[in-house]
Amino acid sequence: MLASTNGTILPDIFSADYQGKAEFCVLLTNKNGCGARKKAEKKGIPSVFLSAKGKTREEWDAEAIHILQEYKADLVILVGFMRILSPIFVSVFPECILNIHPSLLPKFAGGMDTDVHAEVLRSKETETGATVHIVTEELDAGPIILQKSTPVFPDDTPETLKNRVQSLEKEILPEAIRRFLM
Ligand code: GAR
Repeated sequence: MLASTNGTILPDIFSADYQGKAEFCVLLTNKNGCGARKKAEKKGIPSVFLSAKGKTREEWDAEAIHILQEYKADLVILVGFMRILSPIFVSVFPECILNIHPSLLPKFAGGMDTDVHAEVLRSKETETGATVHIVTEELDAGPIILQKSTPVFPDDTPETLKNRVQSLEKEILPEAIRRFLM
């Protein structure tokens, strides 16, 4: 798992029912002390901080690949991971990287976190949602596995939308993982 943020949905993702077929082997982060790291540790899942300071994207990715291989990860899940992966990374885990994105892709691709929700509100959308897709070289453009939508209400703020969209993420990410395991 790769993460950079608070990891709000992680407790639900960790405790979902995978019928004993999934093991979260490591959480790798580029943000030391982020909430996601703390949540993994609380669950007894090893975590590794890999600093990006002074490294090119390819250098960071090469080290990340090495760590994930050491932990024998066969599925990489991006949960609030605020970096763009290089083509090298994507080629090492072909069709084995899942990303959760807080919009109904292909709408609002390329945005991050609350910026996406703010953009949804600015665009006066009447619905939004969450998408799990396979990561390819093109940002937020890989094949969609699952999507779930929610209405946008007139009094919504980026924060209320984020809350509601994350409750969808808690449903569709475990389901996507279960599909991968089948
Ligand atoms: C994730 O839940 C997801 O919606 C979004 O960031 C959130 C992190 O929230 N991911 C992306 O924008 C990826 N492009 P958090 O701060 O509660 O962990």
